[in-house]
Amino acid sequence: MGTIIDFLAILATGALLYTINRRRKPSLPLPPGPKGLPLVGNLFQMPAELQWIKYHEWSTELNTDVLHLQVAGTDIIVLDNYNAAADLLEARSSLYSGRPRMVMVMELMGWDFNFGFRYYGDYWRKHRRLAQTSLQATAIKQYRPHLAQATRKLLKRLLDERDDGNLIPHLRQLTAETILSVAYGIEIQQENDPYIKLSEAANQGAIIAGVPGAFLVDTIPILKYVPAWFPGASFKQKAREWHKMTRAMTNLQKIEAGEKDDAFTEDVLRNTLAALYSGGSDTTVSTIATSILGLLEHPEVVKKAQAQIDSVVKPGHLPDLDDEPSLPYITAIVKEALRWREVTPFGVPHALSTDDEYKGYRLPAGAIVIVNEWAMLHDENVYADPFEFKPDRFIDPETGKIDYSRARDPGHACFGFGRRICPGRFMAFESLWLTIASLIATFDIEKAKEKVTLPSGEEVERTVELTHEYDSAFVA
Ligand code: HEM
Repeated sequence: MGTIIDFLAILATGALLYTINRRRKPSLPLPPGPKGLPLVGNLFQMPAELQWIKYHEWSTELNTDVLHLQVAGTDIIVLDNYNAAADLLEARSSLYSGRPRMVMVMELMGWDFNFGFRYYGDYWRKHRRLAQTSLQATAIKQYRPHLAQATRKLLKRLLDERDDGNLIPHLRQLTAETILSVAYGIEIQQENDPYIKLSEAANQGAIIAGVPGAFLVDTIPILKYVPAWFPGASFKQKAREWHKMTRAMTNLQKIEAGEKDDAFTEDVLRNTLAALYSGGSDTTVSTIATSILGLLEHPEVVKKAQAQIDSVVKPGHLPDLDDEPSLPYITAIVKEALRWREVTPFGVPHALSTDDEYKGYRLPAGAIVIVNEWAMLHDENVYADPFEFKPDRFIDPETGKIDYSRARDPGHACFGFGRRICPGRFMAFESLWLTIASLIATFDIEKAKEKVTLPSGEEVERTVELTHEYDSAFVA
């Protein structure tokens, strides 16, 4: 029954859009895109995963930097190249700073508190201002003691539990401690703190549901009115469970106990904190984990970094952020991790507010605009051997210093574009840098020698597979 309703809704939406489109009589063509079916467009061609690879293949086949897809009446524009992203999202940022409607996440799961998902307007502006002021490059220097403390606690936990083998919970604890102590002076005392657990569960829901096309209700919003008991409407039950977690995450008492700034109301503070926590935790955890994967594959990189640390940092001391200019190889490792397996391969979608024209094409108002960061960060004209983990690509062999004329700073794409660019990017860099430097200074990073026993009893070598859920980033 659910399927019949879905189908009728697709037909109705398609027919309506067809009529509107006929009336509009566009003068310019839409950008090239794969040929779709009548009414539903490319709905059935949309990849369920690794979308960025398919988008790049289509762009290459059609020889275009700007790709057009249409999914049951919704226009999607994919920007496959840095210049197109800069021309539109930065040079015309007043048109391209919206976010698409996300029915599942925002309207059913309660994520409308998060300015990162909000339309471009007053709510977004107010929260963004607070986030940006607190996290700008000069402001974050004051948080360095918090970063140092959280990093030292991480090292201690790892030293105490060397045989545990699962690094991810420790990294989560690290990012939670950092962000919460920076934002509100909240000290997390115990491991497995309930706030961290709750936030993870809520975040995980948003990650799953935030992937464009993950739930049909995003494509056909009217489905949100289908009652939860209705056959085929299991998404409503899922949304209800996730909604409870979201609410609990934003309402915890300890946030009220934090310091308050008179310029912002308690709601703005609370919602901004939750947005920063959700924007900053998984991304940072995942990038540290990626760095470690790269280092595991390249013991020579670890050795080189350790030698540099030994030549700069006094014996018995740990590197700190003041050492950053003298430890370019650590910077190169962090930059390579941000590029090699970037956390957000197609960024966070933007939305176009009014009709626009670009390179002779019409870009329709309301289109979802996706930036293919993966394609930009794996462009072999910019990064030789783009799928290899090679921090040396950023280093001038003569001087040993960073030289972005050899390979572009991945920061040009990995943190997004225009007015929506990641406000946490400076803090992310400092936090990644300090963690990686401290881990390399303290530990040898090597692959586990022992094999893994599968449930079948078979013994196999450890391998790595990346998933959407970072829990399973290190799998047998
Ligand atoms: C490796 C680390 C990180 C990466 C790769 C990353 C990447 C991104 C990207 C691609 C966007 C979307 C930009 C756009 O729409 O064009 C974004 C937005 C955002 N990020 Fe980050 N981020 C990271 C760390 C952080 C941290 C540490 C924080 C907070 C302390 C943070 C908070 C946010 C917020 C709140 C937004 C939404 C901004 C808005 O819509 O105005 N991120 N990030």
